[in-house]
Amino acid sequence: MPAIIAPRGTRDILPAESWKWSYIINTASKTMTDFGFREIHLPVFEHTELFARGVGETTDIVEKEMYTFNDRGGRSITLRPEATAGVMRAAIENNLCAQGASAKLWNWGPMFRHERPQKGRYRQFYQIDAECLGISGAMADVEVIALSIEIFRRLGLKNLEVVINSVGCEKCRPVYRQKLVDYFSAHLGELCETCKDRLNRNPLRILDCKKESCGRVSDGAPDIFDSLCDECREHFAEVRSGLERLGFTYTLNKRLVRGLDYYTKTAYEILSGDLGAQNAVAGGGRYDNLASAIGGAKIPGVGFACGLDRVALVMEEQGCSFGEMPAVTVYCVALDNESRGAVQVLTHKFRTEGISAECDTSGRGFKAQMKSAGSCKFACIIGADERANNSVAVKNLSDGSQISIPVDEAVTYIKERM
Ligand code: HAM
Repeated sequence: MPAIIAPRGTRDILPAESWKWSYIINTASKTMTDFGFREIHLPVFEHTELFARGVGETTDIVEKEMYTFNDRGGRSITLRPEATAGVMRAAIENNLCAQGASAKLWNWGPMFRHERPQKGRYRQFYQIDAECLGISGAMADVEVIALSIEIFRRLGLKNLEVVINSVGCEKCRPVYRQKLVDYFSAHLGELCETCKDRLNRNPLRILDCKKESCGRVSDGAPDIFDSLCDECREHFAEVRSGLERLGFTYTLNKRLVRGLDYYTKTAYEILSGDLGAQNAVAGGGRYDNLASAIGGAKIPGVGFACGLDRVALVMEEQGCSFGEMPAVTVYCVALDNESRGAVQVLTHKFRTEGISAECDTSGRGFKAQMKSAGSCKFACIIGADERANNSVAVKNLSDGSQISIPVDEAVTYIKERM
């Protein structure tokens, strides 16, 4: 019988990689706290309707990429393809934004999209997500963009580009949408099959098509800035001047339309020059109509998510530091079988005192135990002599020196030398 392997597009994050992930998450967590964001935990599956109405019926995500199934009660359930809709659902359900209150929330975890797997693109991938709910002013957009940039700065990422755009609102976007439909209808023959299909369902997405022929047509498409209403125009100007005030450089890309339909006004992405085709390490923007689309009162919002898998890839590629790999401080070694019990007692003592310690639990001999001790700072060795006089031999593994001390003093001795 062939061994069962992980499904396509998923992978195991093994210990050699996962300590690096912890470093990224801890850095993000500290940065979120420094910006006043608080962590929440959300379900990994939601009612399908949340994403259909929130992310948008005509998006690739909802049309083609969701892991949707009926549960045993016959309800349609979907593994979350992203976090924003779930955060907004939780805020509405738990009244986090009642009476005009605001909430700054972050979370991280797995997301699921049935995409074609390639470098930096997986079917189960991980996002670090931040959402600022209840504030409609441009300062919140600036804060969110600054937060994402600061996380990457602390992680030491280089060669990043911040790209921003405004996608308008419910008042001005329909006008722009119609202009696009008129324009692209006149160039239908030049569009790829996917974009022909997008023409009436989601014409803004044509602007984002990576095919060369579609790109050429889009080059001549009407400019979104000519269609923005005064409110959106003003909001975007404030976002730009806010970013400039903080000293950030960014690129304007009038063709940046994101793959989720809930965006209004600001849309942005952070791109890495070291990732190949899947070059976005983060994406986000404002979504003032998401709450009403999923049946809540009007709650404005702005946020972003960064792809943990991709950030780890870029950091590896750029040789960024992940801090120090966690190592065990002490390895306790039994010289003979009779000493194994005393060794386990000492190991447990170290652990309860907050000193990381290990000992062999599988009955291996002295040599094998010393080999395992190799990656630790100290070996604490117990044999018949040590048991007879309640002592322990402490070997400093970096300089090879060894002394004998009372076993009761071992914790203090190691603590002073950690
Ligand atoms: P998104 O652009 O779909 O936005 O995803 C955000 C980030 O998740 C991407 O920039 C990328 O780094 C990572 N990502 C997306 N798909 C994959 C994949 N298949 N494999 C690996 N990484 C991936 C959102 O999801 C929005 N909810 C962001 C947001 C938050 N907007 C407002 N608030």
